[in-house]
Amino acid sequence: MARILITSALPYINGVKHMGNLAGSMLPADVYARAMRLMGHEVLYICATDEHGTPAELAAQDAGMDVAAYCEAMHQAQKDAGANFKLSYDYFGRSSAPSNHALTQHFANVLEEKGLIEERTSQQVYSNADGRYLPDRYVEGTCPNCDFEKARGDQCDNCGKLLDPVDLIDPYSAVSGSKDVEIRDTNHLYLKQSELSNRLRDWVNATKGWPVLASSIALKWLDEGLRDRSITRDLKWGIPVTDASGQPRAGFDDKVFYVWFDAPIEYIAATQDWAAETGGDWENWWRTDKGADDVTYVQFMGKDNVAFHTLSFPTTLIGSGEPWKLVDQLKAFNWVTWYGGKFSTSQKRGVFMDQAIDIAPSDCWRWHLMANAPESADAAFTWEEFQSSVNSDLANVLGNFVNRITKYTASKFDGKVPETGEAGEAEAWIISELQTRIPDLIRYYETREFRKAMAETRAIWAAGNEYLTQAAPWTHYKTDVEQAAIGVRTGLNLAALFGIIAQPIIPDAADKILDALNIPQENRTWNFGDKASIAGLIDALPRGLEVSAPDVLFTKIETDDIENWTSLYGGGT
Ligand code: MF3
Ligand code: ZN
Repeated sequence: MARILITSALPYINGVKHMGNLAGSMLPADVYARAMRLMGHEVLYICATDEHGTPAELAAQDAGMDVAAYCEAMHQAQKDAGANFKLSYDYFGRSSAPSNHALTQHFANVLEEKGLIEERTSQQVYSNADGRYLPDRYVEGTCPNCDFEKARGDQCDNCGKLLDPVDLIDPYSAVSGSKDVEIRDTNHLYLKQSELSNRLRDWVNATKGWPVLASSIALKWLDEGLRDRSITRDLKWGIPVTDASGQPRAGFDDKVFYVWFDAPIEYIAATQDWAAETGGDWENWWRTDKGADDVTYVQFMGKDNVAFHTLSFPTTLIGSGEPWKLVDQLKAFNWVTWYGGKFSTSQKRGVFMDQAIDIAPSDCWRWHLMANAPESADAAFTWEEFQSSVNSDLANVLGNFVNRITKYTASKFDGKVPETGEAGEAEAWIISELQTRIPDLIRYYETREFRKAMAETRAIWAAGNEYLTQAAPWTHYKTDVEQAAIGVRTGLNLAALFGIIAQPIIPDAADKILDALNIPQENRTWNFGDKASIAGLIDALPRGLEVSAPDVLFTKIETDDIENWTSLYGGGT
């Protein structure tokens, strides 16, 4: 059994996340975590809200709230939304937690001891009207690259180029709109990434099995030459800059660490908080001198996060000279698109997690988003395809199968798993299907190929329907009860198997199925083993076991529903 540490990119605090955010990090991490637990691995799945930086301050300002109170409320809202979507975090922390303050300051101090941090004078935009510096998104102006007039200080939304606020043409304050801004000199801490380039390159080259999307992004940055980056900002909300003795660092009173410096450190700090709360051992997951060398660490994220996870965060960890666990595998996603454009938090475009749960049960979303995961390219969301995922895959293929066989058992076999009947040709056929499909399914989970894992799951459910067509117990019943009995027994065993393999994706429906079939918790794991044990799956339920039909598993989506949602949430042509 392996020990697997899983993190999904920390969602920004600035609002409940949209379905694209969910599909591109948290949901696949959850599905993977659930699958690995079912296979008997020891899993720790950590996530948190990313609470610092200009996105947090600006969102609080928009909401007319004090930033600490805003973060508190939004953390709770995101935690609730995650629970509604059955995200099985072992811990959902906050990057503003005291543990992350302490650990971030620790890293800055050891990096400085190693000579990797330097105080440098740099130019910043200062607003006279606002009486403050305007870092990152606090300043807007014309993009020097594409002339877009509303480029943000850190990035142009039109052409995507990463910017430095001082590069903007005609800059103005995003707080007050004032154009009375000037460029001033001020000091910031710089992390000398350039000095670590060779060590990072050796490490990237030595990693095994990263997807091309990840290694190519990392190597491209290394080839272009890593630039030293400033890890502090002129903001009040964030982690204060301290010196080695823990006192405020002279000249840094109005500065805090940059959000991208402290956020990934929260993966570790949240694990410390998990340990404090549960009595777990965080070092055992993060310190290679304390047992973490046998951990496999897997990260999930959107593709815009790759450089931060393959270079910036590893610079912090490697540069410290301390024995920290580094990422082993990472899975990056493209975008889910919304009717030709992007989902957007700031423009409120698309469907958000709190709305989605009023539209359809979480299982329906989980299935649809994973079956259409934006793995190798962007994936377009449409209401029609959502409808088809729910109606065809879930209701028709899975739901009908389970309903048909359990209801028939109730009406003709006294609600019990039939005791008699000999396996024949149809049973041999389904066994051979399962003997190739189940190992494939497991492999797709292990390699985190989610679309393939979903397609294989669907194919196994469909094979069950095909089996019932071949076995046709309802036809045989009148002339040969034994023949009908084997069909029903096999069908019930298949229903159990379908529930078992559905657990990582649609946990609520899976529980309903497995409860109706009276499968004890300890028998819901994935110990499929070899071909012989796969063959045994179609006769695993105790004969004579009482079973019942589950409540309605999936409600179909009607055309009226789509019209209604389109008018409420948008989309459509
Ligand atoms: N909040 C960032 C985003 O949504 C992700 C932060 S990931 C972490 O893009 F590593 F910094 F935590
Ligand atoms: Zn631009």
